Amino acid sequence: MRILAIESSCDETAAAVVEDGRHVLSSVIASQVESHKIYGGVVPEIASRMHAECISKVVRQSLDEADAPLDTLDAIAVTAAPGLIGALLVGVNFAKGLSFSSGLPLVPVHHLRGHIAANYIAHAGLEPPFLCLVVSGGNSHIVEVLDYTKMRIVGRTRDDAAGEAYDKTARALGLPYPGGLHLDKLAEQGDAHAYTFPEPRVTGSPYDFSFSGLKTAVINTIHNASQKGEQLNRADIAASLRRRVTEMLVSRTIAAADELGYRKIAMAGGVSANSELRRAMNKACEDSGRALYIPPLSLCGDNAAMIGAQGCFEFAAGHIAPLSLNASATMDISHEFNFA
Ligand code: KG4
Repeated sequence: MRILAIESSCDETAAAVVEDGRHVLSSVIASQVESHKIYGGVVPEIASRMHAECISKVVRQSLDEADAPLDTLDAIAVTAAPGLIGALLVGVNFAKGLSFSSGLPLVPVHHLRGHIAANYIAHAGLEPPFLCLVVSGGNSHIVEVLDYTKMRIVGRTRDDAAGEAYDKTARALGLPYPGGLHLDKLAEQGDAHAYTFPEPRVTGSPYDFSFSGLKTAVINTIHNASQKGEQLNRADIAASLRRRVTEMLVSRTIAAADELGYRKIAMAGGVSANSELRRAMNKACEDSGRALYIPPLSLCGDNAAMIGAQGCFEFAAGHIAPLSLNASATMDISHEFNFA
């Protein structure tokens, strides 16, 4: 089964051709990072306009690189939710147009399911069921991947996502966008025990997260020091925050795996590129005799290959959309696109 996949949920316009959910024949990514950098974050209107400008070229290039004319494809997969609505609409409308003109079935894909599917590309032997920590710029979830298209949320953030906490504190530390990556690099030079930041817990929901209070505590520390004219060691702040976020993510994931009996753990999303999180989860899994699956760094950020991988499984499950498909800024990962 051969799928063309399109991704435009945030600031990357991407297209890929993927075979059988595991083999990437081409993967093209046009990143907008340079255009948003001067604003310190993604500007939605600019993102939509840039997607519209380059989506045709990106799709054309992915088909050419895969040597896959449209008549060799089985379906067109597209990220339909969640994300920036204007950005999503560019990909969804392009995919609808191509589906109409080519007659190929249209397969909507949940962006976070795509992040999880990056693991199928990277790890040939990985099959559900497994437990997955999904950590990106907009979401932090612990998800039971019961089957390729059946998911259940075990824990979720009650406020900010882990990536958002990293990005906002990185900005307060004067680091460039995208903040999480730069904060991670700076943290490598710092003392992770220099500051003890709070660990918020959600009463009665042991696997839920809350990062908003932690983010505020760090930003207050930075502002208080600057108001008093005190010099702060930015690397120590970055390392201490990273330690706290990592402890929260790893401890809850392992506790959930203990309770639910999972021996296989995966990670997915942009924050799964974090070096301390990769080290700590690796150690926790080794100590508890579990198998850990993490995508390579090249598949942690947004890309269309992962959408193609998940698209294959959604297509196989019969999740084909009518041309009235709409994009959605929010959507639960457990939602199944079932139009039957
Ligand atoms: O999954 P992603 O590329 O986009 C969304 O779907 O949200 O995730 C982007 C997030 C941003 O918050 C970015 O700062 C964070 O992933 N990120 C990192 C690292 N690389 C990217 N956070 C911590 N450490 C990193 N190395």
